[in-house]
Amino acid sequence: MGERFYITTPIYYPSDNLHLGHAYTTVAADALARYYRQRGYETWFLTGTDEHGQRIERRAAEAGKTPKEFVDGIVAGIRELWRELHISCDDFIRTSEPRHEKVVQAIFTRLYEQGDIYKSEYVGWYCTPCETFWLESKLKEGRLCPDCGRPVELTREESYKFRLSKYEDQLLRYIEEHPDFIQPESRRNEMTNFIKQGLEDLAVTRTTVKWGIPVPFDPKHTIYVWLDALSNYISALGYGTEDDTLFRKFWPADVHLMGKEIVRFHAIIWPIILLALGLPLPKKVFGHGWLLYGKAGEKMSKSRGNVVDPRELIRRYGVDAVRYYLLREVPFGADGTYTEEQLILRTNVDLANDLGNLLSRTTQMINKFAGGRVPAPVPAVDDGILQAAVAEALAGMTAAMDRLEISDALASLWKAVARANKYIDEQAPWALARDPAQADRLATVLYNLAEAQRILAVALTPFLVETPEKIWDQLGLDPTGVRTQPWEEAVAWGGLPPGTAIRRGAPLFPRIPMPKEESDVSGNDVTNPAASGAGAQAQQPAEKAQAAEAQQSAQAPEGVALIDYEDFAKVQLRVARVLHAERVPNTDKLLRLELEVGTERRQIVSGIAQHYQPEELVGRLIVVVTNLKPRKIRGVESHGMLLAASTPEGQLSLVTVDRPIATGAQVK
Ligand code: ME8
Ligand code: MG
Repeated sequence: MGERFYITTPIYYPSDNLHLGHAYTTVAADALARYYRQRGYETWFLTGTDEHGQRIERRAAEAGKTPKEFVDGIVAGIRELWRELHISCDDFIRTSEPRHEKVVQAIFTRLYEQGDIYKSEYVGWYCTPCETFWLESKLKEGRLCPDCGRPVELTREESYKFRLSKYEDQLLRYIEEHPDFIQPESRRNEMTNFIKQGLEDLAVTRTTVKWGIPVPFDPKHTIYVWLDALSNYISALGYGTEDDTLFRKFWPADVHLMGKEIVRFHAIIWPIILLALGLPLPKKVFGHGWLLYGKAGEKMSKSRGNVVDPRELIRRYGVDAVRYYLLREVPFGADGTYTEEQLILRTNVDLANDLGNLLSRTTQMINKFAGGRVPAPVPAVDDGILQAAVAEALAGMTAAMDRLEISDALASLWKAVARANKYIDEQAPWALARDPAQADRLATVLYNLAEAQRILAVALTPFLVETPEKIWDQLGLDPTGVRTQPWEEAVAWGGLPPGTAIRRGAPLFPRIPMPKEESDVSGNDVTNPAASGAGAQAQQPAEKAQAAEAQQSAQAPEGVALIDYEDFAKVQLRVARVLHAERVPNTDKLLRLELEVGTERRQIVSGIAQHYQPEELVGRLIVVVTNLKPRKIRGVESHGMLLAASTPEGQLSLVTVDRPIATGAQVK
């Protein structure tokens, strides 16, 4: 195709082991890189480590190591983590490498020679954890860093300064003329306001920090870590060196991806360095939101001691569950609170139930009704439903990925997954199989199901790293093809050869038992849900209890006990839409419902199967108690309870709303 795509993550500080918040940036970048590669773009995906500066120097000293010894150990762990997450980076740059240091020195010298850097003195406040200088006027009350809230240190040093002020207008104009440059839009507005307040020249050397790149012509000065670090995006491409092939091919970057707290460096300092060097600016600087943790909803970070170890999650739930959670759970750009329970729910509902069951049901029926081979479809009786649903899902995914809306891209694919599950319920292949006159129809339905999943597996390859192969393998295809076959060819409907012998295998995602008490991978809490929950599946929380629950509202107690409004207000009632409904296997009364409640998705189990067919519920607006403690009913988690009216004679009627209203709306 000849098109190219260059994407970067920030380079990480190797001052501690990385946590799930760091994995968030990298996994997102990986999904984007894989997506563009799949579309035939020549893609370059860069990540690495930001190893210099006072913060690392101090951490090394505390650990009784030289900075180099110290970072080497941590960097090895980071590489190992990226390997476990299947991060497909094309290069990993360390700022301590000579290939980087040489380029930074050349940049510094050039900026000095052209007068953009000049010798001066720095007096002011420095936040070491953020490696940021602050003007007294910008500090928070009590001389605290306006970014992280920690104490800053008074610094007075001879220092070289970079003339940011000179480029202020040029940068503002560029931002105004390129509305896509800083995204999402809220961050662009923030940056524009910041620049309009006026940029101070920036101190770009330190004399009190030794761990860094020396100024070549004045070596008692060490180059400021941010100038050093930002340059990685071009030093890694060989900018200004004998072999700058990669630089000529890939610069400017298509996307610099990062968390919102460092957008300022990427949207102001970095572009000004590039303007001063006469280089084109990156096409997009995208600041995603934070992964928050805990009841206070604080940013997950080592200094707050609230980190979750991604390695532990991978060990418990597998790499695809962790990747899926990170990519799907939070709309890309917004903040989102991590809980292990939500990760488990996502895995159980989206992956085990929706995706896993679809494959399991399909392969089971092909074995049972078609002798284990994919039957040949008969065009005359084809309804085209799944072909259309898959085409629509792929179009939605592509449009969302182009806007970096990764979560929406997955949501779009899951619409086709849901449609395929519904298709099974509607078509009832088991009924078709009983009628010899329906043989063509049966063959076509089974083919459509298998073919839809073949294509969906291809579309999932940017996000999931093991599951697409498993799907192809179970469909009887060579699993390596799911990632290597060119996109256009791979997603063309009809690619699955009839007669293929399927290989039905283990469920894609075994159901994870929900831990009984809150337990997480953080801090000292070592409760292992995999272990503690092991018995939960065996417990038999009665189907009866849930059926009774569904009816309770109708049984008027004898002497009615009056309650205060506050008691009533404790019950959170919300409007929900039924996205999917199916019988809980081996039960008479239970339906498993997947609900949309505002932006959230949750599942409940309800004892209404004798009163409602699953199909008639899909799309309905119902009323649900959303703050009930989750419980498990016949091994299936129920996160809430729907309201229904019932009579002692056993009539039952769902509580619903009398005109359309957004889901998530409160009922009170
Ligand atoms: O900032 N949620 O490195 P870093 C979401 N070395 N993202 C998070 C997060 C959280 N809780 N915690 C961290 C640096 N991140 C500099 C970058 S680039 C020239 C220099 C993200 O190790 C964070 O937003 O502190 C950033 O994108 C990345 O992890 C690296 O953070
Ligand atoms: Mg940080």
